[in-house]
Amino acid sequence: MNMKLSPVSSKLPVMLHGADYNPEQWLKYPEVLREDIRMMKLANCNVMSVGIFSWVSLEPEEGVFTFDWLDSVLNTFAENGIYAFLATPSGARPAWMSEKYPEVLRVERNRVRNLHGVRHNHCYTSPVYREKTALLNGKLAERYANHPAVIGWHISNEYGGECHCDLCQASFRDWLKVKYNNSLDEMNHAWWATFWSHTYTSWNQVESPAPHGETQVHGLNLDWRRFVSESMIDFCQHEIDSVREYNPELPVTTNMHNIDGVDYRKLAKILDVVSWDAYPDWGYTEDNDDARLAAWTAMHHDMYRTFKHKPFLLMESTPSLTNWQSVSKLKRPGMHKLSSLQAVAHGSDSVQYFQWRKSRGSSEKFHGAVIDHSGHAETRVFRDVAEVGRTLAELQDVVGTTTPVQTAIIYDWDNRWAIKDAQGIRNSGLKYEETVLQHYQALWELGIPVDIIGSEEDFSAYKLVIAPMLYLISEDNGKRIEKYVEQGGTFLGTYWSGVVGETDLCHLGGFPGPLRRTLGIWAEETEGLHSRDLNGLVMDPGNSLKLSGEYDAHEIAELIHLEGAEALGHYRSDFYAGRPALTVNKLGAGKAYHLATRVKDLQFYVDLYAAIAGKERISRTLNSELPVGVTAQLRTDGEHDYVFVQNFSGAEQVVTLDGREYTDVESGAAAPSELKLAVNGLAILKRGAVKA
Ligand code: GLA
Ligand code: ZN
Repeated sequence: MNMKLSPVSSKLPVMLHGADYNPEQWLKYPEVLREDIRMMKLANCNVMSVGIFSWVSLEPEEGVFTFDWLDSVLNTFAENGIYAFLATPSGARPAWMSEKYPEVLRVERNRVRNLHGVRHNHCYTSPVYREKTALLNGKLAERYANHPAVIGWHISNEYGGECHCDLCQASFRDWLKVKYNNSLDEMNHAWWATFWSHTYTSWNQVESPAPHGETQVHGLNLDWRRFVSESMIDFCQHEIDSVREYNPELPVTTNMHNIDGVDYRKLAKILDVVSWDAYPDWGYTEDNDDARLAAWTAMHHDMYRTFKHKPFLLMESTPSLTNWQSVSKLKRPGMHKLSSLQAVAHGSDSVQYFQWRKSRGSSEKFHGAVIDHSGHAETRVFRDVAEVGRTLAELQDVVGTTTPVQTAIIYDWDNRWAIKDAQGIRNSGLKYEETVLQHYQALWELGIPVDIIGSEEDFSAYKLVIAPMLYLISEDNGKRIEKYVEQGGTFLGTYWSGVVGETDLCHLGGFPGPLRRTLGIWAEETEGLHSRDLNGLVMDPGNSLKLSGEYDAHEIAELIHLEGAEALGHYRSDFYAGRPALTVNKLGAGKAYHLATRVKDLQFYVDLYAAIAGKERISRTLNSELPVGVTAQLRTDGEHDYVFVQNFSGAEQVVTLDGREYTDVESGAAAPSELKLAVNGLAILKRGAVKA
């Protein structure tokens, strides 16, 4: 059965390889532009993102448009077999606009309007900014939407930030009126506004959160976050509308980048293809733990793939170092290829960089690029890039392939916002993201493919759904989880779940609120522990997961009562000793596990998920043990599987394959049963598709 999806561009149905390219910075250096084309081909690059931040070069004065330079760049591309994502330039704008229309400038939380400067410094509500953007975008689309070199729209750049101007305040109030049915009473109740006499008696009294004003009405904070995210998405839609009509077939994307303020899951819905910018600081993390960082990056790749359940694009990554990490380290030998192909392993159909050529001046002049200030191709970085290009060219059959997934982790924006905004239970660090990562990393170590989903999604495709710290969960979504379990699904929840609902009001009647029946427990009390406090999870003899021994637990602990669930393990010490710490509840045809405390070491999660995977027949990419720090990820077209074995352990490793026949895609030779991986090594293997 062929399961391939269509490529991002039918014009260029191959693995994409390229970079952000700003030739407008080099118009005074014609030889540079000529050299660029030659070297792009030499680097096996086939696509460049042009026009990002180029507004002043396209409209140097209000209403005066200069497209000649872009004509020439795109025509030269077309003559040379190079393609382009054409950007709308709204991420930064000319000074003349800020000077003439100050309303386009962003107002910060302190209510002070910014001066002209940097980028991403505009109001998403401003009618002038919207009008100017639509005008220029329309002209770009009219001229280039059908240009032979153009394969897609790169809408703006990394939408983010927030504006607190009067226009935005008014728009926020309108948004609230819609949400709360024009009823202040409804809004006041949703925000529990009688607390500290915060009841609003007129819509005009509502203001966005401010350091010298309101910061502690959690419902307001959460609604403001949602409003900001929605207005950015609305702005993106406005940009899409301004270009779409000129060529409805041209795919649209905008590059995402872990910006906390935008609910990317919602943004993804208005795009044709998801793309993101990944900048892991390899070899730099405090504990020098590249495996953990690799898992973190992998989790994000998986999330971006899951948004549309189809291949995404790695729109930016650095070919060497960045200029903004606290210490800018170079990628060690092998790491460029490994990290680039990691994206492909998780579903990317491209490897793209920021940036093609280092700028000569200004803020990013020391950011890594394919071409350094030396200006030629005789560099380590260039050779690394060209090698990735060669490998990508060998992976054409992988374009459009999918990842079969049986396990999902719930990771909601609302929950993330609410959990961090709450005061208590551990203000020194609740570590939500780190907790999600702990669960994810265990699955990554086991080579189990994962989708990262929202709590509003359909769970029926998954055998296992994991929800670490699902603090905010609506009644409805709680019911949907319950139904999923009743119908045979396996669910795993943890401490600090089912605490608040959609508007951040606590669930009444006992935590974990709408998950209580599913989990079969009542969490009577939950506490934060000091870093020096240590408890433990001691597995019960004969537990149904067949886990044994004990694991250290720390940071958060919950005193739970069994309400139908059975204990699998108990607390080790303190007045908790002997009370249940890991449970399972049978409900209908399924079961739900609950972990009441934060277990410290990754090994526990590896043991736990290996046991659950065994019980629920969840398939692993390779049916053999993987060394720590090595993962195997899967893409398939239904007839052939592509297995990407990646070594992030920092040492040489040997992986014993699982007895199936494998071909090494790069060499074309049969893979040995004992696969040797160098430090930062990778093998791309092909086999007949294994049925899940
Ligand atoms: C972001 C931006 C780029 C560039 C890089 C530098 O991802 O989109 O324009 O600034 O960071 O790492
Ligand atoms: Zn504004």
